[in-house]
Amino acid sequence: MLKVNINGVEFKNPVIAASGTFGFGEEYKDFYDVGILGGISSKGLTINPKDGNEGIRVYETSSGMMNSVGLQNPGIDHFIEHELKNMKKLNTNVIANIGGGCMEDYEEAIINLNNTDIDMIELNISCPNVKSGGMAFGIKSEVAYDVVSKIKSITNKPLMVKLSPNAENIVEMAVKCREAGADSLSLINTLKGFAIDINKRKAVFNNTYAGLSGPAIKPIALRMVHEVSKAVDIPVVGLGGISNWQDAIEFMMAGASAIQIGTVNFTNPMAGKEIIEGMENFLIKEGIKDINEIIGIV
Ligand SMILES: Cc1cc2nc3c(=O)[nH]c(=O)nc-3n(C[C@H](O)[C@H](O)[C@H](O)COP(=O)(O)O)c2cc1C
Repeated sequence: MLKVNINGVEFKNPVIAASGTFGFGEEYKDFYDVGILGGISSKGLTINPKDGNEGIRVYETSSGMMNSVGLQNPGIDHFIEHELKNMKKLNTNVIANIGGGCMEDYEEAIINLNNTDIDMIELNISCPNVKSGGMAFGIKSEVAYDVVSKIKSITNKPLMVKLSPNAENIVEMAVKCREAGADSLSLINTLKGFAIDINKRKAVFNNTYAGLSGPAIKPIALRMVHEVSKAVDIPVVGLGGISNWQDAIEFMMAGASAIQIGTVNFTNPMAGKEIIEGMENFLIKEGIKDINEIIGIV
């Protein structure tokens, strides 16, 4: 009843743990059997290991949080040798979330994943592009087009491209990524925000700005999922501030074929289980036989 299919990959339900908020799955095993999830998107992986950013990395805001983790991760080879093996034992779809500072970084990481049994790639184009002075790949659609078409030509995995809400025009960005060969899209990543420590009279984060996530961004994310899913003919995975099953149903009605849960995992580690159960009960109560019936009905 909750099964969905994205790019030929079957998900037992549409609830996926969002990248960067669920580690590699192990971290939540003490709370519930994470194998009940539709999938887990790994922490953002880069070709080389990264220590992440100096200074404060996470900061609570009203109705959400800000982060500037800086893609701390063990690197793609370590992931393939260690974390992936454990993730595959969790009995859920494994999505490898890939970041990069330049085109070559992305390419090398993607090629290394070709011979693995990951189920899907989620290409994070919100990463700062070193060659263009640090502006993220996901801001200008022509730049995103170049990355996505290159990656599409070298991967043998289904390619989901994760869009940034900071894009100049989210619909144009989605259409361009589709033209470049994206098999599906996920949105949204964090919104660029700012916080000041008034006692120190300086920015809270060493990098000045940081990514805002959580309930505060939900209406924006929902609007973008609605706009994008009407503009493209590929599956859209919705995320941004989903905190409960009602939010999840909203995203599906707006056009999402599946949803991801991020920040809520920090405030309620049981959220994944509760959202799956809540969606199931909603379908029973409403007499809906198949979750696919409600995708994009609004
Ligand atoms: C601490 C933290 C780390 C994150 N790391 C990544 C990452 O490595 N790659 C990525 O694509 N998104 C990353 N994200 C973004 C989330 O996956 C998600 O797109 C965003 O937080 C919006 O969803 P939410 O409001 O449900 O958290 C991170 C978010 C947080 C809060």
